[in-house]
Amino acid sequence: MAISAKKRQFGDFQTPDSLAQQVTDLLKQNYKISPQIILEPTCGTGAFIRAALQTFPTSEIVGQEINPNYIQEAQQSIANHPQGHQVSLNQGDFFATDWQALMSKFSRNILILGNPPWVTSSELSLLNSQNLPSKSNHQNRRGIEAITGSANFDISEWMLLQFTQWLPHQTGTLAILCKYSVARKVFCQVKNNDTAPFMAHIYLIDAKSYFNVAVAACLFVFRYESSGGFDCHLYPTLDSQIPSESIGERDGILVRNTVQYDRWRHLLGQNLNYTWRSGIKHDCSKIMELAPVGDGKFRNGIGEIYDLEPTYIYPLLKSSDIGNGRIETYRKMVLVTQRAVGQDTHSIQKNAPKTWQYLSDHNQILSRRKSSIYKNKPPYSVFGIGAYSFKPWKIAISGFYKHLNFQLISPLNNKPVMVDDTVNFLSFDSQAEAQFILKLVTSKPAQECLTSMLFWDEKRPITIDILRRLSLQAVARELGCLELYTDWVKAIQVNSQGQLELGLF
Ligand SMILES: C[S@@+](CC[C@H](N)C(=O)[O-])C[C@H]1O[C@@H](n2cnc3c(N)ncnc32)[C@H](O)[C@@H]1O
Repeated sequence: MAISAKKRQFGDFQTPDSLAQQVTDLLKQNYKISPQIILEPTCGTGAFIRAALQTFPTSEIVGQEINPNYIQEAQQSIANHPQGHQVSLNQGDFFATDWQALMSKFSRNILILGNPPWVTSSELSLLNSQNLPSKSNHQNRRGIEAITGSANFDISEWMLLQFTQWLPHQTGTLAILCKYSVARKVFCQVKNNDTAPFMAHIYLIDAKSYFNVAVAACLFVFRYESSGGFDCHLYPTLDSQIPSESIGERDGILVRNTVQYDRWRHLLGQNLNYTWRSGIKHDCSKIMELAPVGDGKFRNGIGEIYDLEPTYIYPLLKSSDIGNGRIETYRKMVLVTQRAVGQDTHSIQKNAPKTWQYLSDHNQILSRRKSSIYKNKPPYSVFGIGAYSFKPWKIAISGFYKHLNFQLISPLNNKPVMVDDTVNFLSFDSQAEAQFILKLVTSKPAQECLTSMLFWDEKRPITIDILRRLSLQAVARELGCLELYTDWVKAIQVNSQGQLELGLF
C-alpha cells in the first residue's frame, strides 16, 4: 500500500499498543527503573502514553505531538484512566519547542520514551517539507551536517542526539524505537562527543511485522552511567536476556562484533601484493552493455542491433550474477574502450572501425553522462579499469549481498570477465594462484575477521575498505601456509619485472 506524502513527511508510523507495552515492561524488568517523569516528545496517538500509564502508574507523563487530531485521539484514549490526571498532552512542533526551558523544570529522574519520525532530510527535500530543525532548512543545512556528520540525516537521529544532550543534566534513561542504523550513528556521535561512560543497548525488532516497513529497526536504550563503558550491546530480540554481540569503535572504525574483532585483530594490515578493486564504471548501460545475439551481432539497451568487432567487448558479470553464483555463463557483454584510465581512445577507430562507428552514433548519449569524472577525458572513457581488469582469473564478491560469498571467476569464451562497479575483486594470472588466495579469504579466521566489521543491514555492507583491511599474508601465516604465499608473491614480482623488461624493448 502506498504511503501518503503527509504520512511520509511526518515519518508517521504509529506504534502498535502491544509493542509499546512490551517496551515499557522490558524497561521495568531489565533496568528496574521507576521514573518520576516520562517524556514522549512525538507521542502520536499515544501508544507509549498508555503503556507508560500501565507500567509506571506513579510517574508524571508529558506528551507532545504536532498533529492536533492525534493529540485529541491520545487524550480520548486515556480520559477514563484512573491515573489519567498525571498525563499532560500538548500539541506542538518539536522543532519550535524550547526544550532547554522545559527540561530545566525536570530536575528529576526522567525517562525519554517514544518513537520519533522515520524520515530522512533528503526525503523531506523531495516532498518540499519544512519538518526539519530550523537551522537545517535550506541555506543553513551545514550546521546540522556538522552535528549528524552527514547531509542526509534521519530526523529521528537529530532528535535522539538532542535527547542525549538533555540526559547529563538529569538522572535519566532514553528508550527509543528507531532504525538500527540511526541507533548506531547516535551511539558513535555520543562516544565521539563525550568522554563520560554510558550504557547503550540495542534490541532488534521486526519492523516488517510491526510497521510494515522493510528496514532494520530497534529499541535503543541509553543512559550515562559511571560504571558503564564505551561499547553497545546488541540483543537479537526484545525478549533476549543475553547480548549476541557487542558493537564498538576499534582502530577508528565501528565494528559489529568487538569480541571477534579483538580475536582476529592480528589479521589486519596492508596488502601490498593483492589489492581489492571495484569493477568497471561507465554510467551508460544502455549503450555500453550489449547482449550477444549471434553472428558477431549485439543488441544494446535501446533495442538496436549492431555488428561489432570482438576486440573491445568482454563478458560482463553483474552484482546479481556474482551474488547468486551465476558465473559459468554470461548474459551481457561490456564495451571496454580503454586498458587504463585516461588512455586515448582514438586508436579504436583504426583497430575496430565498426565499434568506433557504434560509439560515434551514440556520442550524444555518452557525452551526456552526468558524473564530473568524464569531463575533459577522452571520448567514450570508462573508469575502474587497469591491467588488473584484464587478468584472466578473479575472486569476486558483490557489495550488496548479505553474506560473504566469494566467487572464483574463470575466463569465459577465452576472455577475462569484467564485473560492474558494485562488485569488488582480486585478479590473478593463474587458476592455481586464484585458488590458493580463495582458500585464504574463505578460511574461518578471515571470514570471522571480515564479518566482525560488517553491518548486514547497510545497503552495501561489503565495502572495498573493509576487504582491504584484511592482510592476506597474515591469514596465510595464521593458516600455516606463509611459505606458499611468499612463493606466489615472488612469482608475481618476477612476472611483473618480466613484463617491465618486455615493455622496454
Ligand atoms: C513514528 S510516529 C510515532 C508516534 C508515536 N510516538 C508512537 O510511538 O506511536 C512519529 C510521530 O511524530 C510526529 N511528528 C512528526 N514531526 C513532528 C514534529 N516536528 N513535532 C512533533 N511531532 C512530530 C508524527 O505526527 C507522528 O505521530
